[in-house]
Amino acid sequence: MNKLLVFSLLLLFSSVVWSGYLESDQDVLIPQEWAHVDRVGPTEELELTFALKQQNVHLLEEKLRLVSDPDSVQYGKHLSLEEVASLVRPSDLTEKVVHRWLQSHGITNCLTVRTQDFLQCTMTAETAERLLPGSRFHRYMRDGHYLVRSSAPYSVPNDVHHHLDFVGGLHRLPPKGLDLSKKQKSKAGFHLGVTPSILRTRYNLTSADVGSVQNNSQAVAQFLEQYYHPADLAEFMAMFGGGFQHRSEVDRVVGTQGGGKAGIEASLDVEYIMSTGANISTWVFTNPGRHESQEPFLQWMILLSNMTGLPWVHTISYGDDEDSLSAAYMTRINTEFMKAGVRGISLLFASGDSGAGCRHLGKENTFRPSFPASSPYVTTVGGTSFKNPYKVTYEVTDSISGGGFSNIFKMPDYQTTAVNSYLKTVALPPKSYFNTSGRAYPDMAALSDNYWVVSNRVPVPLVSGTSASTPVVGGMLSLINDQRFMKGLPALGFLNPRLYKLNGKALFDVTEGCHYGCLDEQVQGQGFCAAPSWDPVTGWGTPNYPALLAVLLSD
Ligand SMILES: *[C@@H]1O[C@H](CO)[C@@H](O)[C@H](O)[C@H]1NC(C)=O
Ligand SMILES: *[C@@H]1O[C@H](CO)[C@@H](O)[C@H](O)[C@H]1NC(C)=O
Ligand SMILES: *[C@@H]1O[C@H](CO)[C@@H](O)[C@H](O)[C@H]1NC(C)=O
Ligand SMILES: *[C@@H]1O[C@H](CO)[C@@H](O)[C@H](O)[C@H]1NC(C)=O
Ligand SMILES: *[C@@H]1O[C@H](CO)[C@@H](O)[C@H](O)[C@H]1NC(C)=O
Repeated sequence: MNKLLVFSLLLLFSSVVWSGYLESDQDVLIPQEWAHVDRVGPTEELELTFALKQQNVHLLEEKLRLVSDPDSVQYGKHLSLEEVASLVRPSDLTEKVVHRWLQSHGITNCLTVRTQDFLQCTMTAETAERLLPGSRFHRYMRDGHYLVRSSAPYSVPNDVHHHLDFVGGLHRLPPKGLDLSKKQKSKAGFHLGVTPSILRTRYNLTSADVGSVQNNSQAVAQFLEQYYHPADLAEFMAMFGGGFQHRSEVDRVVGTQGGGKAGIEASLDVEYIMSTGANISTWVFTNPGRHESQEPFLQWMILLSNMTGLPWVHTISYGDDEDSLSAAYMTRINTEFMKAGVRGISLLFASGDSGAGCRHLGKENTFRPSFPASSPYVTTVGGTSFKNPYKVTYEVTDSISGGGFSNIFKMPDYQTTAVNSYLKTVALPPKSYFNTSGRAYPDMAALSDNYWVVSNRVPVPLVSGTSASTPVVGGMLSLINDQRFMKGLPALGFLNPRLYKLNGKALFDVTEGCHYGCLDEQVQGQGFCAAPSWDPVTGWGTPNYPALLAVLLSD
């Protein structure tokens, strides 16, 4: 071997030894809609989040399985935040190594959380770039919002590498949000339009089906620089809240409600969770974290890890393509979902509004799963429409309803029977389009088409998307929690193991229609199709409230 080659191999080797990437598969490209503003000055301050490696993650997973499985003696025996902390808290060695590393760069301004597994530190850009070789911070702007991100991937020294899951605040961008499509169908004016009373009729909620337990609560979380407006909620309830006892005010806002115009998305979430989850105290988590370098979704996860006395049900209309996120990030966020589930908190995510999605890889296309919808530890909600749009009839697939199979998370035990039966009995798209061993979603569904929303004091028709169906289901789970609390039972918590054991009982099975997929010759715009029992378009179907209450009110 010639000397030069040996030397360069040594160099290569030493750079591998000294530092490595934590998220080599993370998409670092800044989309064009974010305009470059400038390079961040060396003395400007950033706030970065360090996700410290946790202990006992497999024990946490096992515990979650036991407290969520109705056939286990531990069912409903949820853990307190302190108990979660003592389970997953990073080892002394991890804490020591990470602290020593930060201190050696003069970084001392850090906040921690009760579970000790996140550190949030302030430092100058110059320090951050020295701490994380490779990073280069720039400022970007979209719709008047500024953001600081790194234009290149970061690395960390090897001795720190296995003590961290990832560093937040460098790459991931605030999501665009699910497109709340405003479909202008012909004869749209004659459509029924979904209102609280239509929903309550379809899902068999009577005027007596409202919350009454003092400290039951539910929440929506928003990360889109969108605000709900208290006056819109009041007007919505005045217009559409007839026939059932309800509240017209949010009890608590966590985070910063900006001024300015209200967003349709934000209005929708609050207005509808409070229509099915009527008379239940409601919170809004909004744009947590104010620094330009923060990731709003991560900030929300950190809040959950740092707060006791949280609402029992959270609905979230946020999603990103799995392939745009690093596996390390998704795996860690999935653990955060387990931490919430083991505490008895139900997390509901919208399944997305692009059907099966489509990813173009050279000449090949595949479907495109969405995260967190694809996490095995959340309940994912798809969308339906009325068979006859002029009447309260049975429901069929809403062709936008997100669904499919994860490429990151393997299929959890609770769903293998249901999913394999679908895979065996239904005509499927070519196997090259999706991963049959992955977590399949959604888990259930609700109407997602043609909602009325009040936004900026104006009633807006024809609002559609799974961000509508998700709070509708969330509110109903809150009502069931309410009844459970009255009987002295624990909260439903992570619902899926119990939901799949119902085998479709108490749900309206959706069996008609297909959702969108790739627009190519092979699948011609079609993804999966609904079928009897579970399917990757509408899950098990939509809730028949009194029946669901009956089966979820024991134990
Ligand atoms: C977590 O909460 C504690 C107080 O309850 C606070 O001191 C700490 O700063 C919080 N951590 C973060 C990251 O906000
Ligand atoms: C609920 O709704 C369905 C369809 O609208 C109806 O057939 C059923 O009788 C209703 N009641 C119960 C208790 O399921
Ligand atoms: C509404 O909830 C409150 C408690 O938050 C309760 O006192 C009241 O009775 C409830 N209203 C109805 C109609 O159940
Ligand atoms: C309601 O609040 C009381 C007092 O804070 C607490 O002891 C009780 O466990 C709470 N119940 C529920 C269902 O959260
Ligand atoms: C399919 O999913 C499994 C996890 O269930 C994963 O290990 C595997 O890499 C995935 N395959 C592809 C091609 O993404």
